[in-house]
Amino acid sequence: MTAAELPVGDDLTTLESHILSEEQRHAGASGTFSWILAAMTLSAKIISSKIRRARIEDVLGSIGSRNASGDDQQKLDVIANETLLRCLGSRAGVALLASEENDQPIILHTEEDRPYCILFDPLDGSSNLDACVSVGTIFSILHHDSHADPIETSLLQPGTKQVAAGYMLYGSSCVFAITTGSGVNLFVLDPTVGAFLLVQENVRIPGAAKSYSINEAYRSRFPEGYQRYLDWAHGNGYSSRYIGSMVADVHRILIKGGVFLYPPTTGNPDGKIRLMYEANPLAMIVEQAGGKAYAGTTPLLEIQPKALHQRTPVIMGSPTEVDHVLEHLATSP
Ligand code: AHG
Ligand code: MN
Ligand code: MN
Repeated sequence: MTAAELPVGDDLTTLESHILSEEQRHAGASGTFSWILAAMTLSAKIISSKIRRARIEDVLGSIGSRNASGDDQQKLDVIANETLLRCLGSRAGVALLASEENDQPIILHTEEDRPYCILFDPLDGSSNLDACVSVGTIFSILHHDSHADPIETSLLQPGTKQVAAGYMLYGSSCVFAITTGSGVNLFVLDPTVGAFLLVQENVRIPGAAKSYSINEAYRSRFPEGYQRYLDWAHGNGYSSRYIGSMVADVHRILIKGGVFLYPPTTGNPDGKIRLMYEANPLAMIVEQAGGKAYAGTTPLLEIQPKALHQRTPVIMGSPTEVDHVLEHLATSP
């Protein structure tokens, strides 16, 4: 009788096992971080299944109220928010939770052994839900400063201080992109077994691609530099793609290259994108994949936040494409 051989093929790695093995490389790691990520993947599975069944369960449409940023709240914004609060709120190690959908952060506990704060946009692009267009969840993880007084000020850290960041994209497949500061890894939910499986390690954004993503209907309200960039792009064979869910637009750029822009407008001098819930985590992902992220001419991750719900202009994507935008901003008043 001969010994059996292992079947040949790539290893199957789940998100949880990947994070566990990363954590084991750090001396003294307690497992808290893996525990938090497991809550994040559970949330993703619940939200993904709710979205897929939304029309059947009659949870599409608005609830008729507005969130902290003044956006019309969708029923699924509330469901996704409650799912994340429920899954993350019970995890040891989480001191503070802050959501785009809540005016105030949630203080879970004040004892010293809670090292993390988690901020999230529960559903990004939710106005697209009724039309079955891709939406996502974006999250940012910070170290909690147990000496912060009042405790909420622990959340007001620049994006450079993020311990981890990522997003779940509920598209034609459910994708989970995450960085812990050493590259970006991509997982896809296999719905037949209910696990996120690793599909790409160390994702690299294409260096250049003649594609921009912007709401061009606001063009006349943009500062002159952005208008001149658009003129230049029109004359240089660029194409335009705009989904209207930043998480989906940025994911497409991560895979195919290009630049995402949400400039200031005359009505909204800081643009629309929220610094802490959307811009910082997506900027960390883009930079960890070799791209660039700016707020006008300032490196986006260096902005010192003054308020939890503050907005910021955004330029992020392939390094060459971001540079083309910056060149036009530099030569305009
Ligand atoms: P949210 O659904 O979380 O409120 O975010 C929507 C954001 C962002 O995802 C998208 O890029 C942008 O709003 C679209 O805004 P415009 O409709 O002004 O283009
Ligand atoms: Mn959003
Ligand atoms: Mn949202």
